[in-house]
Amino acid sequence: MSHARVHNFSISLDGFGTGDVQSQDAPFGHAGERLHQWMFTTGFWHDMTGGSGGTGGIDDAFARQFMPGIGAEIMGAGKFGPPGWHEDPEWKGWWGPNPPFHTPTFVLTHHPRPSIEMEGGTTFHFLDASPDKALETAREAAGGQDVRIGGGPTVIRDFLAARLVDRMHVVVVPILLGRGVRLWDGLEDLEKDYEVEATSSPTGVTHVTFTRADSEQA
Ligand SMILES: NC(=O)c1ccc[n+]([C@@H]2O[C@H](COP(=O)([O-])OP(=O)(O)OC[C@H]3O[C@@H](n4cnc5c(N)ncnc54)[C@H](OP(=O)(O)O)[C@@H]3O)[C@@H](O)[C@H]2O)c1
Repeated sequence: MSHARVHNFSISLDGFGTGDVQSQDAPFGHAGERLHQWMFTTGFWHDMTGGSGGTGGIDDAFARQFMPGIGAEIMGAGKFGPPGWHEDPEWKGWWGPNPPFHTPTFVLTHHPRPSIEMEGGTTFHFLDASPDKALETAREAAGGQDVRIGGGPTVIRDFLAARLVDRMHVVVVPILLGRGVRLWDGLEDLEKDYEVEATSSPTGVTHVTFTRADSEQA
């Protein structure tokens, strides 16, 4: 069974998954890098960015679950680029020639364009489709493996509302953003569908996992 999974999705204590206002110079708006500081020190991040070293421990153990078993990613237009990216025919995402996805990656957008093949196995495909249709398409491309729902908050919220997410790892970061895009709006009682576990890390973040009660265990 192919699961839809969310990993390393970081929110502030007040529930924002990104700050305000996003731009090319500020991919997370006024949040800057504060939502992901916990990850930058991990061995996982050092490996991902071609370095060595980094910490082990709780944060690293959770972060590393990002890649195994994933055969495709779905992301929103707001993760793929800053507002207006679709007016730039040369825009290929934030990540340079070898993005960290290494699978087919489906960008949900109302401005589809031809697919872009990158180095390292990532191909960006652009889809204007409902969450369930997008998941169906991504599952076919994933060849039986799981599909990562990569964010941002709007897309994850839409997939949660459509009851399409089987497993979710949210990292609650002890900062208050006050403004931005919230993850939880309109998802009242969501927890009733999941087994929820929380693990505190000495770095100050809390890893909260949601496992759909009726989802098959891997
Ligand atoms: N906290 C984290 O861990 C984390 C992780 C990833 C990203 N982020 C951040 O999150 C922010 C982006 O999040 P966001 O909530 O603003 O945007 P988003 O979820 O990335 O994308 C939303 C946009 O995608 C398009 N879209 C969504 N569903 C669609 C559908 N069914 N069909 C067609 N198009 C669809 C629409 O854009 P158009 O109408 O313009 O096409 C929509 O406005 C960025 O700042 C990014 O850096 C945070």
